Amino acid sequence: MPSLGGLLKKRRTKDSQTLSKELEAGSAQTQTSPNAAEDHHHHHLLHHHHHHHQPATNSGTTTTTTTTTNPATHPQQHATNQPNQPSGAEKSSEDQAASMQSVTHASPTAHPSTGTANAASIQNIIHSSQPAGAMQSGANSHAQQQTQNASRDARTTKGKYSLEDFTLQRTLGTGSFGRVHLVQSKHNHRFYAVKVLKKAQVVKMKQIEHTNDERRMLNRVRHPFLITLWGTWQDSRNLYMVMDFVEGGELFSLLRKSQRFPNPVAKFYAAEVTLALEYLHQQQIIYRDLKPENLLLDRHGHLKITDFGFAKEVPDITWTLCGTPDYLAPEVVSSKGYNKSVDWWSLGILIFEMLCGFTPFWDSGSPVKIYENILRGRVKYPPYLHPDAVDLLSQLITSDLTKRLGNLHGGSDDVKNHPWFAEVTWDRLARKDIDAPYVPPIRGGQGDASQYDRYPEETEQYGMTGDDQHGHLFPDF
Ligand SMILES: Nc1ncnc2c1ncn2[C@@H]1O[C@H](COP(=O)(O)OP(=O)(O)OP(=O)(O)O)[C@@H](O)[C@H]1O
Ligand SMILES: [Mg+2]
Repeated sequence: MPSLGGLLKKRRTKDSQTLSKELEAGSAQTQTSPNAAEDHHHHHLLHHHHHHHQPATNSGTTTTTTTTTNPATHPQQHATNQPNQPSGAEKSSEDQAASMQSVTHASPTAHPSTGTANAASIQNIIHSSQPAGAMQSGANSHAQQQTQNASRDARTTKGKYSLEDFTLQRTLGTGSFGRVHLVQSKHNHRFYAVKVLKKAQVVKMKQIEHTNDERRMLNRVRHPFLITLWGTWQDSRNLYMVMDFVEGGELFSLLRKSQRFPNPVAKFYAAEVTLALEYLHQQQIIYRDLKPENLLLDRHGHLKITDFGFAKEVPDITWTLCGTPDYLAPEVVSSKGYNKSVDWWSLGILIFEMLCGFTPFWDSGSPVKIYENILRGRVKYPPYLHPDAVDLLSQLITSDLTKRLGNLHGGSDDVKNHPWFAEVTWDRLARKDIDAPYVPPIRGGQGDASQYDRYPEETEQYGMTGDDQHGHLFPDF
């Protein structure tokens, strides 16, 4: 049983007991949602999932590429011309990821050397909030190179910002120590998300090291399915982390509206998560907080993993109890040392939740009941699950570490090569060259936060300069 001292996160309150009960009773299979908006969602899902499968299987045909056209740029840059990186074949995986990220974040005005550049510039014409001067196409490659280097440096060293760089807007989400705001850069007028952590709260909950790790890990990673951190700052009360604003909302919200995802839809999201985990583990980083609340959808419907609050560099083994009860692996619950294998367990829980609408060890009572269920390890697979899914899940949700897929000799390849993922073309997926099953209805252009739930706005005092007891504990901010 978990001992005191660890930190466990709560799930969202909308994680309703009744829904899980209904689903367990099997009534959800015939249930249609009571309101039109939800129905719409569901149709949307089903409709798009065909789109998703065609490109996966017809590798010969040209399909619309869904490489993101989000024209994200450095928040302090006025006008950007970040060219697409040529992606060399024999690069290290880190370099490869870096160049993928660079494509993701390339300015829409980049030289149209890849097939995606056209789409990107169209998107830019529609949604750009850049001054007109920034719209000229990238003819001056020297200037581009310089801008790119500058922006690279800002990412690899410490991006330093301040409250004055942004206009604060509504809350997008709340967490254990603070909240995440939508903000607009006063410089380039683009939108970002700023996570605000109260230092006193972080200290009180003994999360100093985790918070410093969050900043360091996020700064290190570059991957198409991981959130980009642009920089940080702190004032006397709070820590601030500037990230890209991901417009499509939480996978959690979509899942609760849909109740459960059809097999191919769950497969698409699971596959993107698998690539992200593979990348993190290659960097010796365990993520430790996989759950639908931390998976955001970009405007094209691809995933971005956010919340690196528990991410940690762990070359071999660690002992900290942290995570979210439903998603904890038995080796974490029983306070044994553990490693990357815990993320593969959580992937199993995630896939189960996407396919069933509830988690396998969930209990309406207390977390203690959940832990008992986890340690007992008995999973009831509903009859509507595809046999391949059951096979994969039973190999992920196993307490036997010598049998858990992802944790064996073949590593992540064992997961990727499992029959349930048979139709996935992994290299195309990594390029976002597979259409997402659901495209979030973002109609308001950049800065449209309609896909996020509303939270009561606090009149927090940001930007305070007075006495700062805790500042020295967060040297990287
Ligand atoms: N880059 C982003 N763009 C848009 N929304 C975001 C972004 N990052 C986080 N959010 C929203 O804010 C919520 C809370 O962020 P995050 O999970 O990082 O905080 P946390 O304090 O670690 O949360 P918890 O303790 O609940 O896990 C997310 O679930 C999401 O809804
Ligand atoms: Mg979170």
